[in-house]
Amino acid sequence: MMTETTLSLADINLNDEELFERGLAHEAFKILRREDPISWTPATEEVKGHWNLVKYEDVMHVSRRPEIFSSERGIVQYEPVSMDEASAASAGNGKMIITMDPPRHVKMRRLVNKGFTPRAVALWEPKIRAATNMLLDRIAKKGESDFVLDIACNIPLAVICQMLGLPEKDWALMFELTNKVLGPGDPEYQTDVPEEQRGTQEAARITGNIGTMQMFGYFAQALQERKTARREDIISLLVDSELEGEQLTDEDILWFCFLLILAGNETTRNGMSGGLLSLCEHPDQKKKLLNDMSLLPGAIEEILRWNSPVTHMARVALQDTKIRHQEIKQGERVVMWYPAVNRDEEVFPNADVFDITRSPNEHLAFGIGEHFCLGAGFARLELKVLFEEMFRRFPDIELAGPPERLRSTFIGGIKHLPVKFTPER
Ligand code: HEM
Repeated sequence: MMTETTLSLADINLNDEELFERGLAHEAFKILRREDPISWTPATEEVKGHWNLVKYEDVMHVSRRPEIFSSERGIVQYEPVSMDEASAASAGNGKMIITMDPPRHVKMRRLVNKGFTPRAVALWEPKIRAATNMLLDRIAKKGESDFVLDIACNIPLAVICQMLGLPEKDWALMFELTNKVLGPGDPEYQTDVPEEQRGTQEAARITGNIGTMQMFGYFAQALQERKTARREDIISLLVDSELEGEQLTDEDILWFCFLLILAGNETTRNGMSGGLLSLCEHPDQKKKLLNDMSLLPGAIEEILRWNSPVTHMARVALQDTKIRHQEIKQGERVVMWYPAVNRDEEVFPNADVFDITRSPNEHLAFGIGEHFCLGAGFARLELKVLFEEMFRRFPDIELAGPPERLRSTFIGGIKHLPVKFTPER
């Protein structure tokens, strides 16, 4: 690992996926917060330039002004230089609630909102607990595991797939496709590309496209089945939903499915893996939690702050405006870096200390404002149940090797996390 002194402002390139894969992003963000809080990443031949926000206050400012900072031109940092209407549509810009602006955004979000209220979420607890224990049973006698593949990926997958009414035989496919769509730059997921071409930008483009197309093909079939016979699931609910007196189009429904399967799955997985990793790396905090599990809700908030499973969301300015003293021109993109703001020293005292009793802890891991995470209640409940059951059964669980991180500037992912523990008899 590089140390803080080896990285300087001039070296920092937030387009560089390796910075994140090698776990150096926090050092970079610390330097940016101190020396260049609203920095500009210049355009390349392929992508336009963008502003980087690393201060808490600036991300609040932007997130709370959807009338100025739009989500409709895409929420990721890269805007291809060649972006035209067709490529914007195929990227889903303006098609999903997460890439929609008011007033349509709120109306569309309301269609599914009732499935995400605190009361609706609470009803899932027994199912989540049963699924968690079933997964823990599978590793219980082994005494070792790849925590990501055996446990963390499967709990959120089970929840979101059941919400969408997908049969269990298809869950593994959803895992594979989610990885392709959200981690296209990682050679491990570029399985459709010949080995010698993996790791290139072209390989990333192909991987993302294939994942997206297969996902749409899959959900188109599921949609047809629901049209023939309704079920108790979100897809059926959307088939019967209307917006301003009009039924949703197939395209509207397919984009909704696409968003939910991605958002509900990979993020929580990384909250779980990142959570266990942080606790193992801070044995004093793990011990404190094990001695008093009533600290768990606060520990989960600290896990979210510390790991920020979603690394960034972007907005595009709809008019000339200012963030602090920095002029932002109409059409320019601003990227909000959540791991950076969640360690902003001006908001979090001892921001570099992992403290499960931190209070207050108003982190922005779920965003804030108009697009605040719809699934935050599910994510928190899944994390709570996992840590309760896992620490009840395997209190001595610890790392058995280093984590393998995802090569991505969008998801703070862990692909593999070897762990060991005393097996159950
Ligand atoms: C630890 C887990 C999670 C994290 C860190 C996370 C993070 C986020 C963030 C940062 C946003 C804000 C987007 C923006 O401002 O542009 C968001 C939105 C969203 N999340 Fe999550 N999320 C998590 C889990 C989930 C789950 C489990 C679901 C579904 C079951 C979900 C569904 C959504 C949806 C649908 C949106 C879009 C909301 C809107 O645009 O109105 N998320 N999430």
